[in-house]
Amino acid sequence: MTADQSFAGKTAVVTGAASGIGLTVARHFAERGARIVGVDLAEQVTDIVAGLPGSGHHGITKDLTAPTAAHEVFEFVLAEAGTPHILVNSAGIALLDPATEVSAERWQATIDVNLSASFYMAQAAGRLMLDAGYGRIINLASQAAVVGLDQHAAYCASKAAIVGLTRVLSLEWARRGITVNAVSPTVVETPLGKQAWAGEKGEKAKAQIPVGRFAQPEEVAALIAFLASDAAAMITGENVLIDGGFTSV
Ligand SMILES: NC(=O)c1ccc[n+]([C@@H]2O[C@H](COP(=O)([O-])OP(=O)(O)OC[C@H]3O[C@@H](n4cnc5c(N)ncnc54)[C@H](O)[C@@H]3O)[C@@H](O)[C@H]2O)c1
Repeated sequence: MTADQSFAGKTAVVTGAASGIGLTVARHFAERGARIVGVDLAEQVTDIVAGLPGSGHHGITKDLTAPTAAHEVFEFVLAEAGTPHILVNSAGIALLDPATEVSAERWQATIDVNLSASFYMAQAAGRLMLDAGYGRIINLASQAAVVGLDQHAAYCASKAAIVGLTRVLSLEWARRGITVNAVSPTVVETPLGKQAWAGEKGEKAKAQIPVGRFAQPEEVAALIAFLASDAAAMITGENVLIDGGFTSV
């Protein structure tokens, strides 16, 4: 089996599906036969997801930091598509400040989206997947989970926490057919990546990556698809770096 396998008959819930990695992942699964439920703060997610290849897709506009958001998403998923097989937590923000300047609001906003929303989505998905005895959960962490980056105090903290969370969920659910993994890209050329790494700062960062370039969203989607495949049943609790060698040197 290859990463290019079919996902026919599978339902994949993807957060952050209106943009960047989430959109690319949703398209990757849809092209291979999956039914997509895409969730995003951005209203255009409904049209974007409905327009993906295949049929039966749904886009939901929702702020995932709202206390009842995860519950509402999975109530909808169950009613419209049945038990979900795959969850990809890609919704995220990067608010950059020197550590001395991080406001309580910007710290909390980062933790709320990058960490808490991912947890509540995984918790709600996990409850259904445990009943079904099958599931694949992939959380977007970052190279920022394993190395410190200038002005990334809140972001690095949120992503390191995602890796810890991933380990616990994988441990608790491993015997019940569910794998939980994190994926940690270097800078990916998405709206978020381009905004955070524009100009000279980006060129310097690129030069420090052994392969000499940033990642493309399709490369991250291919890794996520492999982790979501049946072939990856023995991989759980991992944080898979996709960083062109940046954290290995
Ligand atoms: N792009 C990179 O360089 C990079 C590198 C490593 C990790 N990541 C991680 O990958 C994930 C996706 O990043 P991206 O580059 O695709 O970003 P992006 O900005 O292109 O897309 C993120 C999406 O999340 C949505 N979102 C934000 N807050 C939300 C909320 N409260 N509720 C629902 N949706 C919300 C946004 O509307 C947006 O559509 C993030 O978790 C990010 O931290 C990105």
